[in-house]
Amino acid sequence: MAILVTGAAGFIGSHVAARLLARGDQVVGVDNLNDYYTPALKHARLAQFKDNTAFSFHQIDIADYDALLTVAKNARIKSIVHLAAQAGVRYSLENPFAYGRSNLDGHLSVLEVAKTLSVNHLVYASSSSIYGANEQIPFAEDHRTDHPVSLYGATKKANEVMSQSYARLYGLAQTGLRFFTVYGPWGRPDMAYWIFTEKMLKGEPIDIFNRGNMGRDFTYIDDIVEGVIAAHDLPTDRENDFHRVFNLGNDRPEKLMTLIDLLEKELGVKARKNLVGMQKGDVERTWADISRARNELGYKPKITLAQGIARFIAWRRGLAKPFE
Ligand SMILES: NC(=O)c1ccc[n+]([C@@H]2O[C@H](COP(=O)([O-])OP(=O)(O)OC[C@H]3O[C@@H](n4cnc5c(N)ncnc54)[C@H](O)[C@@H]3O)[C@@H](O)[C@H]2O)c1
Repeated sequence: MAILVTGAAGFIGSHVAARLLARGDQVVGVDNLNDYYTPALKHARLAQFKDNTAFSFHQIDIADYDALLTVAKNARIKSIVHLAAQAGVRYSLENPFAYGRSNLDGHLSVLEVAKTLSVNHLVYASSSSIYGANEQIPFAEDHRTDHPVSLYGATKKANEVMSQSYARLYGLAQTGLRFFTVYGPWGRPDMAYWIFTEKMLKGEPIDIFNRGNMGRDFTYIDDIVEGVIAAHDLPTDRENDFHRVFNLGNDRPEKLMTLIDLLEKELGVKARKNLVGMQKGDVERTWADISRARNELGYKPKITLAQGIARFIAWRRGLAKPFE
């Protein structure tokens, strides 16, 4: 019996697949390999598994219910780690329909497959973006999440309430994970740490939003993967409508300027800083209260931003050619 990983060619999905394979699980990965950012990076992530017979891959759109059901049925899946989505806050202003298809239709399709095949557990990605305009810090799971400031955040909130209805209606056991700014090797080229790195290496100026007055709870990929695996392995037979949500952050909010200082140090390049205003849809700061994940999942993030950025830059320097 296999574990279905959606978004397996993505940043977090490929790391989760690698970790599951390393411990001996069978993994069936799906991804539509869309060009929101370069598909070459998605192919390169998948190439890591090409000789692993415990891994199979299907290029499909998760919103295509029939295709997803066929793959899942043939693989005799026991559980799902659902990480495929249209990510990114800023792009949701430009291309809202991509979010409707991947995040709303896609999530519904995954729920239907999970229900139809009676899987043991569906773990899915939510986001710190659902806290939106919440001003209470650090963000805790029982804080308000009904005032998103981006369509992306709204679709992630929708995922949680859709999941709640399936837990209640059909007894589908689920866990939603609110990730906080995940970064690291094989990361996402649309995220600030990656954009800054490429521009600094080319000597180009970097745009610093809200004139640098931003804070993020940056979470290193390996810590996130540990949280995803612990959530996947939760025993789910103890309640009828099992649906839990957890913050997975680092509980160490950092200033945007600290990130830039670390990149300057690791790259040996002085950033040309272009201070600009706040971007629509963005929030000034995020900070995760991770006590629930600590208590119930044994989640214990270990990697500081300084260590994680050093690892990311070492990985970036090892690339024969940058991903553009
Ligand atoms: N990286 C972060 O900081 C972060 C923070 C909060 C939440 N998340 C969430 O975590 C999940 C994984 O994010 P990521 O950073 O790995 O992003 P990613 O873009 O690298 O990975 C998502 C993958 O899903 C695939 N995909 C998108 N729409 C699809 C569709 N309709 N059908 C099939 N495949 C599709 C993409 O091709 C991509 O490979 C997403 O749900 C994202 O919203 C990420």
